[in-house]
Amino acid sequence: MTDLQPLVALLNRFPEAVEARASARFRVRLNPTDIKLEGDALASHVAGADGLLVSPVNRFDAALIRSLPDTVRIMATFSVGLDHIDLDAARARGIVVTNTPDVLTDATADIAMLLMLGAARRAYEGERLVRTNRWTSWRPTQLLGTDLTGKRLGILGMGRIGSAVARRAQAFGMRVHYHNRRPLPPSQAAQADYVESLDDFLARSDVLSIHCPATPATTGLIDAAAVARLPHGAIIVNTARGPIVDDDALIAGLRSGHLAAAGLDVFTGEPDIDPRYRELDRTFLLPHLGSATVETRNAMGFKALDNLEVYFAGQEPPDRAD
Ligand code: DGY
Repeated sequence: MTDLQPLVALLNRFPEAVEARASARFRVRLNPTDIKLEGDALASHVAGADGLLVSPVNRFDAALIRSLPDTVRIMATFSVGLDHIDLDAARARGIVVTNTPDVLTDATADIAMLLMLGAARRAYEGERLVRTNRWTSWRPTQLLGTDLTGKRLGILGMGRIGSAVARRAQAFGMRVHYHNRRPLPPSQAAQADYVESLDDFLARSDVLSIHCPATPATTGLIDAAAVARLPHGAIIVNTARGPIVDDDALIAGLRSGHLAAAGLDVFTGEPDIDPRYRELDRTFLLPHLGSATVETRNAMGFKALDNLEVYFAGQEPPDRAD
């Protein structure tokens, strides 16, 4: 028996208040450089740790989970998304996994609206015109975008974030429908219509906003056939995960003019994104900022610490995901 506090290894640099609370409750191993830990550096950082505070920066596939020291009993991820962790492998190793639902819902829904507006209103092209000093005059035909008001918004994946986007979009005068495997009870559906068939759902989406988790079933779901089902001039917005969209299909849709624009916060292989996105004027691109506010990132960190503290106190952590 030891009365030492548990040793928690933090794999990234986290907000100051989060690291301060972690340091007050546990023995901690910090990563002040914030350089992604891999290979030997990762192995020595986690050696002897009882718990890990991780993020989507590190991909915990089965091999990496098997290589973790036996001392590791819990991994708390600083994210709601879990696609970077092989939950089966963690379960097989007896490692508890927790995530951070709820606290990032509003911030992520806000970014979806920012992307929707940025894509529809040609914000990138307008910003560039001003910043490069090439704006010579107000002109009646300059950079005409598309109204969101009156458009049909399709929410793919009506969970917490999808519902929050639906409510915001309704305030913009959009008509909202959604596609899930099953309809939601009316109290959770944010007055949006359920469309059971994915094809029908796509065909009526002037704007498609993606909010489903990345799973084997949703990887590549928005492929060339799905893009073709969208109405001419549709806009695609993705704040969920890059691999849900097939890059070739989205880029071809933008190049042909079938799609008017895309607003993307997440990408396959990020930060090494498909370079063709940078060449397209009608893309509005952000570096995975969905939850990036001081308030939300603190709340995510505190939630992850709540889970670690409850676990090390011998109780069931509230956001157990495995
Ligand atoms: C999440 O919480 O999953 C966000 O996308 C940050 O990765």
